[in-house]
Amino acid sequence: MNEQLIKEFTARFGAAPEAVSQAPGRLEILGNHTDYNQGFVLSCAVGLNTAFAARRIQGSVCTIRDFRDGSEKKFDLNNIDEAVRGDWSNYVKGMITALRRRGFTIGAFEAGMRSTVPLSAGMSSSAAFETAAGFALRELFDIRLTPEEWALAGQEVENIYLGLKTGLLDQFSSIFGKKDAIILSDFRKIAVLRTVQLPAGYAVAVINSMKKHNLVDSEYNTRRADCENAAEILCGIYSDAKTLRDISLDQLVNAKPALGEREYRRALHVVGECTRVHLAVERLEKGDVEGFGQLWFDSHESSRVNFENSTPELDYLIELAKSIPGALGARLSGGGFGGITIHLVRKDQAEEYARKVCAAYKLRTGIDAEYYICELGDGACSEKLN
Ligand code: GLA
Repeated sequence: MNEQLIKEFTARFGAAPEAVSQAPGRLEILGNHTDYNQGFVLSCAVGLNTAFAARRIQGSVCTIRDFRDGSEKKFDLNNIDEAVRGDWSNYVKGMITALRRRGFTIGAFEAGMRSTVPLSAGMSSSAAFETAAGFALRELFDIRLTPEEWALAGQEVENIYLGLKTGLLDQFSSIFGKKDAIILSDFRKIAVLRTVQLPAGYAVAVINSMKKHNLVDSEYNTRRADCENAAEILCGIYSDAKTLRDISLDQLVNAKPALGEREYRRALHVVGECTRVHLAVERLEKGDVEGFGQLWFDSHESSRVNFENSTPELDYLIELAKSIPGALGARLSGGGFGGITIHLVRKDQAEEYARKVCAAYKLRTGIDAEYYICELGDGACSEKLN
């Protein structure tokens, strides 16, 4: 993709880029809505990427072209403090703002991008975009930050610039992903604790429901508020606890009378997900693929019932996973409220399985679902060109 992007960039801007970067989308394997509760997540970067190419120019006006559809955005560096609604260059302007907040000076540039990460599907196309942009800018303006700091800068684009109170999972996975591996992250330590292998012969099939609730952003923020309310009550009862991550299932059950019914279910989801993440690592180490897959089904059921971040379309895809032979587990992945499901399948049956699920989904919903058999890829990278 980079070769093509360099050619297109050169044709459009009349000079070669000085730097290129790429950042992958991600899949949340287990650990739904645990990141902002300082919990644990199993995730991976995928082989689908956003690539960004850029070169410095004089003045203060930047141009960015999306070579997928030929659309182009211009903005003046003296006027980027506020996000403009619906403008995709917000991700770049937000990153510049986050870097300025850290004391870096960003000059004008022209840039081009291409991406194979599906948009608004739950594969973190936005984290891929802001990370790719940031990594290209680091080459142009010699910005030295640790990978953790880059992830935090990306999260600020969402939290501060765009007003979405997301956790750190997306940027973290896009930066720390390891080829053929799942990473176990601890969002209190802000660290990757270890990697685990997907068992040989198995693959992750992503099936996109192609439907996304239009209230995703506000629902996300209200789920986070529910978790924080539950945590406040629970931390009042258990003085050693700081967030839902510190609460055990027994403690939660014992404190049930102190919580509202909804807060209880939200907390149950988060506490359950943290437990499932640890169980998943144990099961993977023992080679218990079926047990690992069962945790995916359990996770989805908890999303459906406790966290209420599923949709009828996502639920139907999971029902199909239970009835069409081939999947050991399946669940929604990412924020929820639509978007993708992930299915643990045997590699040699993955295509056939995904095609059957899509055909059955079409019959019931009339929607053409898209599927991808995912490669687990490396995290973001960038290089200076001569
Ligand atoms: C979205 C957010 C992440 C995380 C997931 C749910 O992808 O951006 O921070 O909270 O939802 O686990």
